[in-house]
Amino acid sequence: MRQIKSIVIAGLLLTFPRFVGAQTTVKISEPEDEVIISKHIYGHFSEHLGRCIYDGLYVGQESAIPNQDGVRSDIIDALIDLKIPNLRWPGGCFADTYHWKDGVGPREDRPSMVNRWWGGVTEDNSFGTHDFLNLCETLGAEPYLAANVGSSSVQEFTEYVEYVLHKGGSPMAEWRKENGRENPWAVKYWGVGNEMWGCGGNMTAEHYANVYRQYATFMTDWTNSDGLFRIASGANVDDYHWTEVLMRDIPKSLIEGVALHSYSFVEWNEKGSSVDYSEEQYFSTMKTALMMDELIVNHTAIMDKYDPENKIALVVDEWGGWYEVMEGTNPGFLYQQNTMRDAMIAGTTLNIFNNHADRVKMANLAQTVNVLQAVVLTEGEKMLLTPTYHVMKMYNVHQDATLLPVSFDGPTYEFEGESLPAISASASKNKEGEVHVSLVNIDAHKSHTVSLSVEQFGAKNLTGTILSSKDLQDHNSFEAPETIQPKELKSIKIKKGVAEIELPPFSVLVLKAE
Ligand code: AHR
Repeated sequence: MRQIKSIVIAGLLLTFPRFVGAQTTVKISEPEDEVIISKHIYGHFSEHLGRCIYDGLYVGQESAIPNQDGVRSDIIDALIDLKIPNLRWPGGCFADTYHWKDGVGPREDRPSMVNRWWGGVTEDNSFGTHDFLNLCETLGAEPYLAANVGSSSVQEFTEYVEYVLHKGGSPMAEWRKENGRENPWAVKYWGVGNEMWGCGGNMTAEHYANVYRQYATFMTDWTNSDGLFRIASGANVDDYHWTEVLMRDIPKSLIEGVALHSYSFVEWNEKGSSVDYSEEQYFSTMKTALMMDELIVNHTAIMDKYDPENKIALVVDEWGGWYEVMEGTNPGFLYQQNTMRDAMIAGTTLNIFNNHADRVKMANLAQTVNVLQAVVLTEGEKMLLTPTYHVMKMYNVHQDATLLPVSFDGPTYEFEGESLPAISASASKNKEGEVHVSLVNIDAHKSHTVSLSVEQFGAKNLTGTILSSKDLQDHNSFEAPETIQPKELKSIKIKKGVAEIELPPFSVLVLKAE
């Protein structure tokens, strides 16, 4: 092993020592059954929380910041570029306090409320359903409305469905028209509450299953298209009992998806800084991120038992890294920076989702702007794209492509007697026959060489995009917004049908074979 460099400052490894590690052969096979990686795995989530909507996405029409109907034009462009397939809104915990009627009609007549979960700030309802659904149209993203169950009523909920989806001639559709929208929006994805085991009402699984049945019964698909996609509020991490009860007690005719929430962190009660973290904290975070695989396997096993035909989707509608807020910011606003650690979380998690695409049909990164593992951060008129943004963009080549099984005997990333798989990978073939392989090396010190046989795809050309950086804690700041940028690898050498590619420590690489 060859040490390249090491600088240790005050207990924090700012530049970790680097070594050359093992060689790994990655095999990609033809699938036995066709599994499509749904583009909806690459979904996002924007809550009325901190500066995600207000002073984030939405600055208002009067703002000096260029905007389209009050939404920042630079963010719109960034999200279109990202190929964002769906957007979940308005929460989160906020969803079960949100009364949709307060957010439609003339802005000056809209009542205010207190955002009880997130900083106790006043919500003036200036960004409402019309703004959100119109934004989704602009983005070319499908809306995913998480509707209030915890503090609402069946009537309020069903009127919401009618307001959004009914063509005309119904009281709610006529009210929508009066409010300026003639045609219904196409909203297929509906969340029936959020975290009903916690902020959604502290319900037991058994109680919520009954409540869900009641609400779902009255949800009518007024569009007469291919039906609504109703998503039950799902388990917290490894609460397998929750999934078991929902799958057992909710008739299949009433449900299309079951959710799951799981975040990555150092320790829930000691989350640590989003920027100044030690290797120990990095290792712990990656441990929780990699747990996603086990969670999906175990929740899927329960779903397989009750739904062997695989009709109901597992929807991981909240995932991402969660750290302490940036110093001096409101603790209720969950504003954090985004470093190469987040790029590692994004790359490994998306590989896990891709590889489980037979059951995981949708997922939502928390959250889009200025909250948790954001893809976009803003400060006044400034905007930056985070390392997570770049990973999500590099991976969008997998959207709606056919999953190709990947196997390898991976090296491990060792830290103080513990080990994690260093490499993660997933692959797909798109409609044009191009094969994409995404590889992540989470090792903080060692680069690993991957040897990839491309002969079987008849590939003549191998190119790639890599995201790596000098230090694990590197990030894009408003002073230096382009510190971390993906780099193109123009032509990778193929020798006797095999390419040998070096994955530097904490790097993400997406290859294209054509
Ligand atoms: O994403 C932040 C919060 O995390 C959401 O509001 C809630 O659903 C979850 O606990």
